[in-house]
Amino acid sequence: MEIRPTTDEDLGVFVDTLHTAFGRFPETPAEDGGGVWWSAFEMDRGLLALAEDGRPVGTANAYSFELTLPGGAVVPVGGVSAVGVLPSHRRRGVLTALMRRQLAELRARGEFLSVLLASEATIYGRYGYGPATYTGRLTVPRHRAALAAPRAGDADGGSVEVLRRAECGGILEEVYDRYRRATPGALSRPHRWWTRGAGQPPVAPAPRHVAVHRDPDGVPDGYASYSLGEDGTLTVDETVATDDAVFTALARFLLGHDLVDRVAFKHVPSDHPLRWRLADFRAAEAGGDTDWLWVRLLDVPGALTARGWFADGELVLDVDDPFLGERGRHLLTVRDGRAECVPTDREPDLSLDVRDLGSVYLGGTAPSTLVRAGHVRARRPGAAALADALFRGERAPHCLHWF
Ligand SMILES: CC(C)(COP(=O)(O)OP(=O)(O)OC[C@H]1O[C@@H](n2cnc3c(N)ncnc32)[C@H](O)[C@@H]1OP(=O)(O)O)[C@@H](O)C(=O)NCCC(=O)NCCS
Repeated sequence: MEIRPTTDEDLGVFVDTLHTAFGRFPETPAEDGGGVWWSAFEMDRGLLALAEDGRPVGTANAYSFELTLPGGAVVPVGGVSAVGVLPSHRRRGVLTALMRRQLAELRARGEFLSVLLASEATIYGRYGYGPATYTGRLTVPRHRAALAAPRAGDADGGSVEVLRRAECGGILEEVYDRYRRATPGALSRPHRWWTRGAGQPPVAPAPRHVAVHRDPDGVPDGYASYSLGEDGTLTVDETVATDDAVFTALARFLLGHDLVDRVAFKHVPSDHPLRWRLADFRAAEAGGDTDWLWVRLLDVPGALTARGWFADGELVLDVDDPFLGERGRHLLTVRDGRAECVPTDREPDLSLDVRDLGSVYLGGTAPSTLVRAGHVRARRPGAAALADALFRGERAPHCLHWF
């Protein structure tokens, strides 16, 4: 088997092979090649696996994204996607070969993190990826949708206007960009995604109404893209707000919509204050809880020193990376929000696989949970609690970008 990089000329065969792996047929793109989920592919980052006879049997690609880390640093990451192996060629190591080659290429570009969304949770752990952000849906019946009077003031003095998705792409792009830079765990949506209509609504050009929130000066600072189904459910694809008061104003607007039985907010982080804003705390029904962004560290010291930290302390981490055949013992020292990370031969506080480090890296999974699950080994009393305090971010990381 051979793995080779792709170019723009491979787009047709790449898309065909990928869709066959998923048991699907490609939709027809618009005349300019846009309007389909794969229209933002970066074909200079693609890989094709070829069988002995030269036929393509496997695919993998990566997008050039930026990821916001705890503390606000924005770093380039590879967004791994379009992974598929033909049903006729599975379980022969094709994916493993693609992953090995791809990790080497990500490193060669200087990316110290790669991220992905997993179709099945059993696939990517062996390659060093761990689930790092989580998301879910909150559904509120309309008759229980009253908001409580804010007890600490409500700063919103803005306005909400309803537009069609087709009228407001530029506003969505701008607001999303402000939001993602301020949100740990959020990914960029490169301009190409918006112009090509790639991904899912509201980036993809499906018919949607969009509630756009503006601040008192008329500057857009939030939006919610939504559609009303035959069953009376108003489904909100995403609510993107540059602060909590803006989110509440958009929620108030959506919950007040006429001819609606319930409002389903997709992509709400687990620690979101929305249910606390409802007069009836039990009115919001949580569902669809799932892992979202998976993280893989390609350079442990590089990644640990890039994020911000919110408690001081020292921790020795013994990190095993069986897929890449690497092992390192790192002394992590955090002072005043920044970390140093150097090799050490001191006794470790925690022994962990690189996939577990990926899970705790953004602060969305407590190290002590992985100790209790039997994945991470705490080598001295108090080590797990200290790791919890160190790795916690300013809030739960959240990603709503689909790729
Ligand atoms: C998932 C997929 C890419 C795996 O490709 P593959 O070439 O068969 O994988 P490999 O042969 O390299 O498998 C490597 C290991 O992963 C395991 N594995 C692979 N896919 C798995 C799955 N879906 N569930 C559980 N284990 C899986 C294999 O059993 C093997 O384990 P082993 O090393 O202990 O023997 C392929 O099944 C596929 O295309 N599925 C449909 C599309 C899809 O889900 N893509 C992922 C998008 S995020």
